Amino acid sequence: MKKALLFLTIVMCFVVLPGASSDSRDAVPKYNASNELLRPENYREWIFLSSGLGMSYSSGSNEHMMFTNVFVPQWAYQEFLKSGKWPDKTTFVVEERNSQTKGSINKVGHFQTDRMGFGVEVKDSRLPDQWAYFNFDEDSKSAKANPKEGCFQCHENHAAVEHSFVQFYPTLKPVAKKFGTYRQERENVDGAGK
Ligand code: HEC
Repeated sequence: MKKALLFLTIVMCFVVLPGASSDSRDAVPKYNASNELLRPENYREWIFLSSGLGMSYSSGSNEHMMFTNVFVPQWAYQEFLKSGKWPDKTTFVVEERNSQTKGSINKVGHFQTDRMGFGVEVKDSRLPDQWAYFNFDEDSKSAKANPKEGCFQCHENHAAVEHSFVQFYPTLKPVAKKFGTYRQERENVDGAGK
């Protein structure tokens, strides 16, 4: 009987404890010897937050719109649900895909096609500014952090929860509001700087 209990406890540990076990190996940021971020290969197995279609922050044309698909690791998503905050070592991916209208039976609207590359954002307390930004194309195995004015500044000035654009992620918005981590003024066009 005791043995059976012990066995059961051990099994339970494996089943219940490593909450991150369903995440792929690259669900936390890893760097090479030159401090370049290694490509997160398996982000398609993470949690999908939302898609943008042709989003632009300067008034551009709507002619050729790209989709942006946003993903976070399952373990980080679970933490966010409990606190409305992103845990240290959260990685975010924004994948860019081309769009197409005419194809197969489709006549109007847009569907997604080839990947054009992806951007990565990490929250890591070991980094000088805690948040850093990277770009990957189809071939890059690692990437250097982008200069602060390239990506960091816009996220710093305009994102609703820490550096993340939760104002555009409909399932996370109510969570952040519940925990009081949502900056409502970031929904205004001029909501920068606070
Ligand atoms: C002018 C403002 C602006 C700049 C500059 C910018 N971003 Fe973003 N970023 C956004 C917005 C708005 C979203 C959310 C909308 C979406 O789905 O595209 C976003 C979303 C993201 C996300 C998904 C997670 C999140 O924070 O919400 C990543 C990853 C990301 N950006 C990376 C980058 C990288 C890498 C660069 C620099 C090459 C960059 N961004 C530059 C505005 C910006």
